[in-house]
Amino acid sequence: MEKKWWQTAVGYEIYCKSFCDSDGDGIGDLRGVISKLPMLKDLGVTCIWFAPLYVSPQADNGYDVADYEAINPDYGTMEDFKELLDLAHSMGIRVIMDMVLNHSSDEHRWFQESRKSKDNPYRDYYIWRPAKADGSEPNNWGSYFREGNGSAWQWDEVAGEYYLHQYGIKMPDLNWECQALREEIYGMLNRWLDFGIDGFRLDVITRLKKMPGFPDSTKKPEPKLDRNGFVVDRDMCTNVEGIHQIIRELNRRVFGREDCFTMGEGAGVNPTNAPDYILPERQELDSIYHFQLASRKGPRLTAEQFRTVQKSWAKVGEMGGTYIQYLSNHDSQRQVSQHGSDKAYRTRSAQLLGTLMHTTPGIPFIYQGEEIGMVNVRFDSIDDYNCCYTVGPYYAMLDNGFDPATALADVAQTSRDNARTPYQWNAQKNAGFTDGKPWLKVNPRYEEINLEADLAAEDSVFRYYQKLTALRREHPAIVEGNISFLLEEDPNVICYTRVCEKETLLIVANLSEEEVAFKLPESVKGGFSCLLRNVKEGIGLTGENELLAPWECAVFVAE
Ligand code: GLC
Repeated sequence: MEKKWWQTAVGYEIYCKSFCDSDGDGIGDLRGVISKLPMLKDLGVTCIWFAPLYVSPQADNGYDVADYEAINPDYGTMEDFKELLDLAHSMGIRVIMDMVLNHSSDEHRWFQESRKSKDNPYRDYYIWRPAKADGSEPNNWGSYFREGNGSAWQWDEVAGEYYLHQYGIKMPDLNWECQALREEIYGMLNRWLDFGIDGFRLDVITRLKKMPGFPDSTKKPEPKLDRNGFVVDRDMCTNVEGIHQIIRELNRRVFGREDCFTMGEGAGVNPTNAPDYILPERQELDSIYHFQLASRKGPRLTAEQFRTVQKSWAKVGEMGGTYIQYLSNHDSQRQVSQHGSDKAYRTRSAQLLGTLMHTTPGIPFIYQGEEIGMVNVRFDSIDDYNCCYTVGPYYAMLDNGFDPATALADVAQTSRDNARTPYQWNAQKNAGFTDGKPWLKVNPRYEEINLEADLAAEDSVFRYYQKLTALRREHPAIVEGNISFLLEEDPNVICYTRVCEKETLLIVANLSEEEVAFKLPESVKGGFSCLLRNVKEGIGLTGENELLAPWECAVFVAE
């Protein structure tokens, strides 16, 4: 079967706000992105995913959309976006837009209308419920961002009812039971495809359907953070029966269009329920990304976890499903800090983690800055943080009696701001991101870690990533090969083959800070030559006892 364009793609997520500021207002913009397209081309990127670019009050940096069909003026104009799109296409780079269909901003015209009266034509676009007899919230659901009193319901004076918001108070959930809302969304999505974009990344797409009847959750509140008895119960709105009917209709009306690529954010998705979302015959989504490796709060990746997760998803792949390989995005920590070494072996571990993502089955997505080994940040004051998952829980902890230092330490490590500090282009003021005052502080390590310094170094993360993306172009086994793991008991060494009709690749990686022993299993016969390695005089696959240096990895091809 002929491949779809996305199956061979190398993805790259741009968080525009933090990428490159062309006009000195401290906020990244589209003209900044245009100026950096050649860099992305050099890196080997063939598909950009833009985090939301729409008009938005920025309560959640654009995931609170006030107008789905207009570009945020801080980022530029529709003309700028068109220019960017055409230029990207002329360079062989596709562009997909983030689409937030679970909720809008409370400043969206639909919501402003909706709240006005019960017979307003937009009333049903959102989820309104009366208060209980004592005036309290319709049920005990808690919101993810834990703003206000922690409830997922907000009283609206104008409407005289509560509305549901799974996320922030300023992010009311849209009502997918309402056909008029659906029609409005289909029209909007189709207009974007007509405009020339190549598809969508679908924000929290598994959460569009809510538990019918809105029953109370019977789960216990999390002891540390939940307040007033409200419970963050994912099951009430994730993978709820009926979700597939909604996505199939989206596919029939929009996503099924020629060459349109969809990538769902798979909250609550695992290898068991993923096939229903992504097998081609289901006609729902083209691909999904899951959280089993890249979990913001998760512990450091282990070899065993890597093998288990990759093996179980490989089964989904064998059934015909496509999934995304990534270790970080705008919602995570920096991968080199979370899973690698951000001190002595920063470059090498960044290269190793990249190798794992670019040599396993699926579509690799790079998150901006990963290709130069950007690291987590630690600010001294909560006032320097912006992310809702950081600020909301911080104040919830204070309300629960924690002292500020403990609360800050708790939220800082897993803050999404780790990934959102401005891109570090060079060692100049503000890391070359802006001439003005950056909207979020630059990581203080920018003088050491920046693109210019990386490219000038003998050992560069960026140049290594270029080789990874070249491997994908030149070696069919990277895209098509089956994956099989060797040395499955090893606590540190990850070793696997990728085999297709045309070739066999073998990948070895030491996921630890220690030197470890390595011996190729006797079952593996024949000679290998090295395609890529991150340590100069590295292992040779001699079949004898060898030593893998800390964070050493290499990709071999069978001769
Ligand atoms: C997704 C986005 C995240 C956002 C949330 C609510 O998880 O990736 O950044 O805060 O949805 O829209």
